[in-house]
Amino acid sequence: MKIKNIKEYLTEEQIEKRIRELGAQISETYGEEPVCLICILKGSVFFTCELAKRITSPVELEFMSVSSYGAGTSSSGVVRIVNDLGTSIEGKNVLVIEDIIDSGRTLSYLLENLKTRNPKSLRLCTLLDKPDRRVVEVPVDFVGFEIPDEFVVGYGLDYDQKYRNLPYIGYVEIEE
Ligand code: IMP
Ligand code: MG
Repeated sequence: MKIKNIKEYLTEEQIEKRIRELGAQISETYGEEPVCLICILKGSVFFTCELAKRITSPVELEFMSVSSYGAGTSSSGVVRIVNDLGTSIEGKNVLVIEDIIDSGRTLSYLLENLKTRNPKSLRLCTLLDKPDRRVVEVPVDFVGFEIPDEFVVGYGLDYDQKYRNLPYIGYVEIEE
């Protein structure tokens, strides 16, 4: 498959405006209580940085990388932790930051795993949500944008590891 075109769908301004709103909502939820943001690499890296700057509660930043086996544009449900957290989350308010929820398989696995580590609270924030694609139910607390079932890239999201650095989010048009 080759990419024919990338059509802008969400501009950098729209994304950053929405992130400021999410930051306010998250700050209201935690108030003065500290919150540990877990950035799921690599897709969430731009989103996490931008969002962290907009949260007024005390923030701790952690990173984790997972790989969901599967070729092309869908995940298989077999999830592997490639890089685990460097610290314990026991007794902490944890907010998992994802780029996109598609089938829900990656997050469903990850949330179950994190739950066993006894955080004080465990919530989920995603920049994008494709509800039409959901196979496994996942409780999402904060959503940036609901989007239709189209493959998107940019603002951290990749196609074959490319286009993560686009400052906007665009639909991919594929040449068969
Ligand atoms: P899920 O397990 O099916 O929910 O897949 C989640 C992961 O699939 C995300 O973290 C992304 O890495 C990837 N993904 C799903 N949809 C897209 C998309 O439209 N563009 C880029 N990556 C995507
Ligand atoms: Mg990915």
